[in-house]
Amino acid sequence: MPAPDRRSATVATIDLTALAHNLSEVRRLIPSACRIFAVVKADAYGHGLIEVSRVLARHNVGGFAVATVQEAVLLRNAGIREPVLVMAGLLPEELPDLVRYGLTPVVYDLAFVQRLAEQIPVDAAPWPVHLKLDTGMGRLGLTPAEAWEALQRIRAGGHLRVEGLMTHLADADSADPAYTNSQLARLDTMVARIREADISIPLIHAAGTAGILSHPASHRDAVRPGIMLYGYHTCARLTTPVFLKPVLCVTTKVVQVRTVAQGESVSYNRTFIATRPSRIAVLPVGYADGYSRTLSDRAAVLVRDRRAPVVGRVCMDLTMIDVSDVPGAAAGDEVVLIGRQGSESITADDLATWQDSIPYDVLCAIGPRVPRIFRPDETARN
Ligand SMILES: Cc1ncc(COP(=O)(O)O)c(C=O)c1O
Repeated sequence: MPAPDRRSATVATIDLTALAHNLSEVRRLIPSACRIFAVVKADAYGHGLIEVSRVLARHNVGGFAVATVQEAVLLRNAGIREPVLVMAGLLPEELPDLVRYGLTPVVYDLAFVQRLAEQIPVDAAPWPVHLKLDTGMGRLGLTPAEAWEALQRIRAGGHLRVEGLMTHLADADSADPAYTNSQLARLDTMVARIREADISIPLIHAAGTAGILSHPASHRDAVRPGIMLYGYHTCARLTTPVFLKPVLCVTTKVVQVRTVAQGESVSYNRTFIATRPSRIAVLPVGYADGYSRTLSDRAAVLVRDRRAPVVGRVCMDLTMIDVSDVPGAAAGDEVVLIGRQGSESITADDLATWQDSIPYDVLCAIGPRVPRIFRPDETARN
């Protein structure tokens, strides 16, 4: 693991024990034979691809799922040996790396079947692929007719083998299960047709976090948890209570405290005008670090165990908070942007609410300028 960068005022601390706990919650909720493909795309949702994946591998996940070949290659170069599903856009020029690094592509395009088959060395065993069926996400995926055609071509070709059939649920976190049920019914129709033809596909999968937490019927041979591993979910309805621990905290330090007279303004466009003589603390963090500009005049932070509001526009590298009601606030004070301090806490859900978004967006946005400091996985010591 990289040495913690103590020179940076703003750091993200990643609690790998909490990550291991959240994985154990996934296991508690799914059948024991169900395989877990841990979703670690987008730098493990901003938490650090390699460190997160090593912990999950140590806890015996059945594989990983990423968006791009580049992410998968990083995993392989870090010594991760588990199967790696590449789920999003694959360019023809990336196919040689797919084979070279032993990656498992998700097939969402019929033309891809032939292109991939041409890359497989003649003496290689049939290459595993997962077919992606669009059952209603309206994003990537094969129609049922295309999926059937892909299956026939793959069986006839002999270079590839269909290890998995997957779909992605569009509305599994909503209170109304109707759309998810209709997607699962479409998946079932396809599965029934495949079984009637006596074709075996070992891994049927549909569920991400929302499927795992709200739709037990979507737990098939495998699941693909992402956000719940990092301690969050967006489900309006849970079938079983779940106890998730946020894995990431972001802290920074006050660099200066200024006195602002009543009537004076703070930051660009003067959206904050002091209604009283105020003490304004300047934080060395901004939208370049992923602290969204939409948090301007809306968010709060924690300093000296109290909440302090963000005032004025969040800038690229600086954010101002009003510490008039925080006695003694001074340069050098630690400030929590996401995490706990005293009895108070601010979560990625809170930021998501303030910036009218979702915790995924908040977590993935935390930029490369913010060093990640890893707290070791204590569960691995036993
Ligand atoms: C195809 C696919 N499966 C699984 C996931 C994981 O979803 P979640 O983070 O909601 O668990 C994603 C994430 O966007 C995805 O695109």
